[in-house]
Amino acid sequence: MDEPFIERLERLEKEAIQALSGVSDVGALEGWRVRFLGKSGLLTEELKRIGTLSAAERPRAGQLVNTLKKALGEAHGARLGVLVADQQKAQLSAEAVDVTLPGRGLGVGSLHPLTAALRRIEDIFAALGFSQASGPEVEDEFHNFEALNIPAHHPARAMHDTFYLLDTHLLRTHTSTVQIRFMENNTPPFRIIAPGRVYRADAPDPTHSPIFHQVEGLVVGEGIHMGHLKSTLHTFLEGFFERPLNLRLRPSYFPFTEPSAEVDVSCLLCQGVGCRVCKGTGYVEVLGCGLVHPAVLTRVGIDAERFSGFAFGMGVERLLMLRDGVPDLRLFYENDLRFLRSLR
Ligand code: FA5
Ligand code: MG
Repeated sequence: MDEPFIERLERLEKEAIQALSGVSDVGALEGWRVRFLGKSGLLTEELKRIGTLSAAERPRAGQLVNTLKKALGEAHGARLGVLVADQQKAQLSAEAVDVTLPGRGLGVGSLHPLTAALRRIEDIFAALGFSQASGPEVEDEFHNFEALNIPAHHPARAMHDTFYLLDTHLLRTHTSTVQIRFMENNTPPFRIIAPGRVYRADAPDPTHSPIFHQVEGLVVGEGIHMGHLKSTLHTFLEGFFERPLNLRLRPSYFPFTEPSAEVDVSCLLCQGVGCRVCKGTGYVEVLGCGLVHPAVLTRVGIDAERFSGFAFGMGVERLLMLRDGVPDLRLFYENDLRFLRSLR
């Protein structure tokens, strides 16, 4: 056998082993396999060359090539095993979890104080035999104003700084809209409350927000009078504040009630001495109320000779401020968790 053939095989073996030691990942190893052991690889070339040797040399040459092929195949398998093991080790350490670390815990959510207060108000009125009604926040002028005895150009419209959406539609400025919607579709007697969001372009201050909540109340039946209104509000307010209260019914004016009153509660933040919340007066206004104006009943088709009723509309934020000693109702809308968690 000519020397060059054996020498070439020896060189090839050295080259292959050396290249293998530089292979550091599975992709590069596959490149190595294709180069040396592949169908058109270097060893296959040597096998083809055997045909050019003499008949006497061929068996020995074939044996040598096959031995080398087997050796390189085994070296490939060993290297592959090492690389796969390394890869797994790296992956395990990258994804390692320290099971001895303390757990992070799942935060448990709770109701926003306004939601909790609304539910409490609803519960107290449910116990007094009131059911619930609701209406849209986007309203027409008829339900927000006209049906409530506030025609266009009536000075009472100026009391509500209204957000208009179109010429005829607006964001409701009070929940009294629901009085009208309910009476349009129901016949007395009934007792309802209507909780909901209302909007006014009021300048924000400690007791005013452009968006706030009211709970409307409406009771219509035979022989309903001011005494029913007063006792209902007193029962409700003492239930809500969970203590005896001084109430002040102050004569007032609403176009849709006659007589009308506003109810002030002695300021629980300063015990009536005078502070920023009660603006030094010792009392905070929490609601407006009165006996439903006969013209309002007549307009929705209720016989005002036979039926009478009372209505009220209270500010939920104001009630909650007083009960929980919150000095500024804007805090309810700032979503500072430290504040929200400080209330019950
Ligand atoms: C009304 O809105 C009448 N609809 C109430 C009513 C209903 C009277 C039924 C008679 C019969 P007033 O504008 O006063 O009235 O508002 C009622 C309550 O909402 C106030 O007493 C106050 O507690 C609250 N309130 C008014 N404006 C704001 C505001 N910008 N931010 C927070 N609370 C407010
Ligand atoms: Mg008022």
